[in-house]
Amino acid sequence: MNKEEVIDTAHTATPGTGNERNAVIRIRDVYKSFGDNHVLNGFNMVLYEGENLVVMGKSGSGKSVMIKCLVGLMAPDSGYIEVMGKEIATLDHETLDILRSDIGFLFQGSALYDSMTVRENLEFPMRRHKEKLGVIDDTTPLVLEALENVGLAHAIDLMPAELSGGMKRRVALARTLILKPKIILYDEPTSGLDPITAKEIIELMRSIQKKYGTSSLIITHDVDCARVISERMILLVDGINYAEGTYDVLSKSTDPKVDAFFKK
Ligand SMILES: Nc1ncnc2c1ncn2[C@@H]1O[C@H](COP(=O)(O)OP(=O)(O)O)[C@@H](O)[C@H]1O
Ligand SMILES: [Mg+2]
Repeated sequence: MNKEEVIDTAHTATPGTGNERNAVIRIRDVYKSFGDNHVLNGFNMVLYEGENLVVMGKSGSGKSVMIKCLVGLMAPDSGYIEVMGKEIATLDHETLDILRSDIGFLFQGSALYDSMTVRENLEFPMRRHKEKLGVIDDTTPLVLEALENVGLAHAIDLMPAELSGGMKRRVALARTLILKPKIILYDEPTSGLDPITAKEIIELMRSIQKKYGTSSLIITHDVDCARVISERMILLVDGINYAEGTYDVLSKSTDPKVDAFFKK
């Protein structure tokens, strides 16, 4: 595979060709090191409106670091990151916060608040982002709508400890939906789940994308997840977007570093 070519396509379509798609995220030449640990070494990525993009990388390759830089939880050493037309590094706290209300973030694990009921977990982002939703007298319809999307309306008054691992992940997914985000970032959405539950989560992700037309960035090292959900994939190797393409094309690559991802 020609690496130069691959990186070039990540810099998006040539303007004026009439078929350029709208980019909701652009990452250009991002570097991030921790001491001698050079994690990102000039990473590039574009997420287009409405697509499912999978970024696959080995454990420890910098996937979570990349996603944290993307939402401003971590600052890159250098490089350019833009979300919905706004350069992250230039935003003040308040503007960043408003931007984040348009980004649903499903963290690795489910990260529910154990001391809160399912309902309270879902109300939490609504309280944090009052500016987006305005004054809401009764949160129940919104909470129920989000829970119905993941088939868990009946669990509204349960505590996280009463839920299975798969149910917790579904509640976390419902929580990312409550603010009707334009972009959803999934960090290892199927990790730690058995294969059947993982499949259910992937199906939910697909149905949510269909229903709301969200743009999704899915970070994973799960090949099955990538195969089912990706329209396009980027392989993160050695801190760069090493290869890019559809699952079908990449899985047939003869490049050993690419091929290694698809070997079971
Ligand atoms: N806050 C941090 N301080 C120091 N090293 C970190 C920090 N966050 C991540 N790293 C290191 O960066 C590398 C990539 O981590 P991460 O992005 O979490 O990998 P993954 O691809 O598994 O999500 C790892 O070597 C990790 O130890
Ligand atoms: Mg990670």
